[in-house]
Amino acid sequence: MTDSEATIDALLSEGRVFEPSEAFRRQALWSDPSIYERAASDPEAFWAREAGRLSWFEPWGDVLRWDPPWVKWFLGGKLNVAHNCLDRHVEAGGGDKVAFHWEGEPGDRRSLTYRELLEEVCRLANGMKSLGVRKGDRVAIYLGMIPELPVAMLACARLGAPHSVVFGGFSAEALRDRINDAEAKVLITADGGYRRGQEVPLKRNADEALRGCPSIEHVVTVRRTGGDHPFVEGRDVWYADLVGDQPAECPAEPMDSEDMLYILYTSGTTGKPKGIVHTTGGYLTGCSTTHRAIFDIHDDDVYWCAADIGWVTGHSYIVYGPLANHTTGIIYEGAPDWPDKDRLWSIAERYGATILYTAPTAIRSFMRWGEEYPQKHDLSSLRLLGSVGEPINPEAWVWYWKHIGGERCPVVDTWWQTETGHILITPLPGITRLKPGSATRPFPGIEAEVYDEQGRPVPPGGGGYLVLKRPWPGQFRTIYKDPERYVETYFSRYGKETYLAGDGAKRDEDGYFWLLGRIDDVMNVAGHRISTYEVESALVDNERVAEAAVVARSDERVGQAIVAFVTLKSGQTGDRVVAGELREHVAKVIGKIARPHGIIFTDDLPKTRSGKIMRRLLRDVAEGRALGDVTTLANEEIVEQIRGMSTEASSQE
Ligand code: WTA
Repeated sequence: MTDSEATIDALLSEGRVFEPSEAFRRQALWSDPSIYERAASDPEAFWAREAGRLSWFEPWGDVLRWDPPWVKWFLGGKLNVAHNCLDRHVEAGGGDKVAFHWEGEPGDRRSLTYRELLEEVCRLANGMKSLGVRKGDRVAIYLGMIPELPVAMLACARLGAPHSVVFGGFSAEALRDRINDAEAKVLITADGGYRRGQEVPLKRNADEALRGCPSIEHVVTVRRTGGDHPFVEGRDVWYADLVGDQPAECPAEPMDSEDMLYILYTSGTTGKPKGIVHTTGGYLTGCSTTHRAIFDIHDDDVYWCAADIGWVTGHSYIVYGPLANHTTGIIYEGAPDWPDKDRLWSIAERYGATILYTAPTAIRSFMRWGEEYPQKHDLSSLRLLGSVGEPINPEAWVWYWKHIGGERCPVVDTWWQTETGHILITPLPGITRLKPGSATRPFPGIEAEVYDEQGRPVPPGGGGYLVLKRPWPGQFRTIYKDPERYVETYFSRYGKETYLAGDGAKRDEDGYFWLLGRIDDVMNVAGHRISTYEVESALVDNERVAEAAVVARSDERVGQAIVAFVTLKSGQTGDRVVAGELREHVAKVIGKIARPHGIIFTDDLPKTRSGKIMRRLLRDVAEGRALGDVTTLANEEIVEQIRGMSTEASSQE
C-alpha cells in the first residue's frame, strides 16, 4: 500500500470525514435525501418544477415528447436565454450585482455588473444585426478568455443566432473545418490573446482559416493585444467600432424551447468532429438546476469555474448556468503558473472565491508544484470544490480536499459530457457521503446503469458500459447535419431508448458509480477529448508519413498521453528531428493540445489478417504491459520490434 492509499484508507475508515458537516448541511439548498425518490417517482414533474424557475414568454404544453431516440422538452414554450441570464435579474433589481470579475493574464482587471453586461450584450447584438445577422444564422466565435467571449455568446442567444465557439487553442485548420461545417456567416475573434506571457495569434489564425471559408461575410475583431493586423476591406470590422454607437437596448428574440442555442464541436471516433446541437428551454433548465443544486449557490457566493469557455464546461458552468442563477463569477484569461505557480490562489484570495470548479489535470499539476503555493494565500473563503473532465484519482481528490479545501469543503466530482449538456452523475454536497474517486450517484431525475455486452445490468464490483435510460432536459438533440451519426453512435448498441455514453464504469455495493474512462477511440488528454483518428489523419497528412496509429498511455499528469506509432515512407529516416517536425505538424493541423507526447518509428504496424491495425496491442506496448491475444495478428515479427521501445523516447517539450 502506498502512503496515499494508506491515508485514504485511514480517512475512509473514519467514515464521517466525507459526510457533509452539520454546518454545511444546515445551510445547503438541497439537504433532504428524499429529493431522489421524489424526482424518480415523476421525473417530468421534477424538471417542470425546475423549468418554472426560469422566465418564459409563453408557457409550454407537454413537458416531454419522447420518440426514441429523439426528445423534445417543454413543447411550445417560448423564452430567450439571454433574457433569462440578464434582463430578468436587472428587472428584479439585481443589476448592480457583479456578474463577472475578470482578470487578464498581464494583470489587468475588469468587473462587470449584470446591468453592464446586459448593455454590452445589447450593443453587440445591435452591431451584429447591422452586419445582417438574423435569427437562425450561425456565428463562429474564436476568442480567448476575455469578457467579450460571454458577451458574444449572449448576444447570439439574444438574437437567436446559434453560436459555435471554437476553443482559442485550436489551429487555423481546425477553425476552418468548424466554420465550414456550421456554415457560419460571421466570425467574432480578437487580434490575439495572452497565454504564459506569449501572444496567441488569433487573428492571424483566423485569416489563414478564412482563406477557405466561403460562408463568412464579416469578421469582428476585439482589440486585445494591439499591433498591426491586415484588414480585409468590407469584411473586417473592429469590435469597438461596431458596438461604439449602438443603443444599449435590443429586444430579446422569443425562441421556441426547441430552437437551437448553439453547436459545439467535439471529437468522435472518426477524423471528423461532431457538431453537438443544444437547444433552448431544456438546456437552460438543466444547466441552471444542476448548477444551483450541485454548487449550492447562495446569493453571496463568488463562484469560479476555472475551465475554458471554449469547452462545454465553460458554456454550461461559466456562462449559462451561473448567469441564469444570478451568480457572481470569476474569469481568468491565462495560465495558472503565470507569472508564478500561485496565480490561481492569488485570484481566489483577491475576490474571496467561495466555490472552485476545476479539472483533475489541473489538480495534479498543483500537487506537483507543491502545497507551498496555495499556502501563501488565504483560501478560507472557499466552502465547496468541484472536479470535472476525467476520472479523478483518489490521491488527487484527497490532496485537493486537504490543501485547497482545508479539509472543510465538500468535493463534488461531476460526471457529464458535451452531449449531456449538464452534470448527470454527482454528489449533492448537503446530502451525499463522498468517496474520493467516485462521482457517486445520478442527479435526481436521472437514471443511469452499467450494462454488460448483452445489455444486462452488471452486478456490484464489475465493470461495464455506462448508459442512461431516460431522457433529461439538457441532452443534445442531434449532431449538426448528421442525424444518422447521432443514432448510430449513441443509440444503436442497446436500442433507441438507451443512451450509450462511451465511458466504462462500475458500481460498488452502495450503488455508487466509478467512472473508468472512455471505451472508444477517444482519448482524454488533460481533460480535452481528442480522437485517435484525428491525430492519425493529421500525421498521415505529413508527406513523410506512410501510416500512423495513435493510442493513449496513462500519464500521471495529463491523465492520458498521446503515443503515435509511425511508419515513414521509404527513403525517410525517423529521428528526433523528424519526430519534432511531426509533433509540430499535428499542432498545426489540430492544435497544441493534440501534439503526441511520444512518437515511435516502426517498419510496420501490427495488423489483423484483414488489414485492421490492432490498436489493442499498441496500447499494451504503450503501457508497457504483457501483450494480449496475438492469434489474429498477421505480422507477429513487428510486435517483437516495437515491444520494449520507450514510448517517451522522442518526445517532451
Ligand atoms: C470524461 C466534459 C470521469 C468522460 C464535461 C466523458 C469524466 C468525457 C468526468 C466528456 C468525471 C468527464 N469522471 N470522467 N467526473 N467528467 N469525464 O465532452 O470520459 O469534454 O465521456 O465534457 O470526459 O468530455 P467532454
